[in-house]
Amino acid sequence: MSTAPVNPNKALWEKGDFTRIAETMRESGEALVGRIGITKGLKVLDLGCGDGTTALPAAKLGAEVLGVDIARNLVEAGNRRAAQQGLTNLKFQEGDATNLQPIPDQTFDAVVSIFGAMFAPKPFDVAKEMVRVTRPGGRIVMGNWIPNDPTLVAQILRISSAYTPPPPEGFVSPMTWGVEKNVLERFGGAGIPAEKVSFARDTFTFNFKGTPAQFVDEFRAYYGPTMNAFDAAEKNGKAADLQRELVDLFTSQNTSKQGTSIPATFLRVTVTR
Ligand SMILES: C[S@@+](CC[C@H](N)C(=O)[O-])C[C@H]1O[C@@H](n2cnc3c(N)ncnc32)[C@H](O)[C@@H]1O
Repeated sequence: MSTAPVNPNKALWEKGDFTRIAETMRESGEALVGRIGITKGLKVLDLGCGDGTTALPAAKLGAEVLGVDIARNLVEAGNRRAAQQGLTNLKFQEGDATNLQPIPDQTFDAVVSIFGAMFAPKPFDVAKEMVRVTRPGGRIVMGNWIPNDPTLVAQILRISSAYTPPPPEGFVSPMTWGVEKNVLERFGGAGIPAEKVSFARDTFTFNFKGTPAQFVDEFRAYYGPTMNAFDAAEKNGKAADLQRELVDLFTSQNTSKQGTSIPATFLRVTVTR
């Protein structure tokens, strides 16, 4: 039996199958990559890349892309997708945003992390690592969900947190990356002055073929954070309440008559190294 200590950050994302949710994010991933200046030959790191929602379209634009993710199953899924699509300029490997060794300093023209690095612990280390592997004059682009925002993802987390035990002491919420002051502090700690950091509100739309209630079922069955919330709610006999709250949320945010289409606001951060 393995005696290696469990890394809860890794375990969370290897739980379930995030590719099921990522399938609903493809159009927005592609559109986002199209508007952040990814061009042929650019060396790009996609950090917390999942199975390649943004890494694949970046490679299709001709960039040399490395996808790094802590979850082994998502790295494998990403490499399968790259092979299926014949993309030889795209590779996925396991790695932790808090420590990107053995990647050398100043390797990339651009580091992209869309709802990825925000989920790593130790945000000051994460900022330092992103800066370290970016070449001088290069860019870092992060997409971060915004705490207390009225749109989908912040609301899923708000609802779920009411059903889960409080996090361990010292835990830093991933959502703190959606607050400009924190972002400036973290990149400031990595030597980046505030004038080199800019912010914009942007939108990512989740598109799912079934009903909003069926989309909630996908989250319940495959999305680690929601699976954990249901595990905790079940222990307290409250799973039906959590289900109802989420179905109400997804239904009220759905903008499509055919299936489910839910736009969600995020903070786009651009850092010039
Ligand atoms: C919400 S998913 C987003 C995935 C992908 N960027 C997308 O948009 O489809 C968060 C991703 O961050 C990864 N992640 C979480 N903590 C990480 C860490 N410490 N280092 C690298 N990746 C991490 C997860 O495994 C997961 O793939």
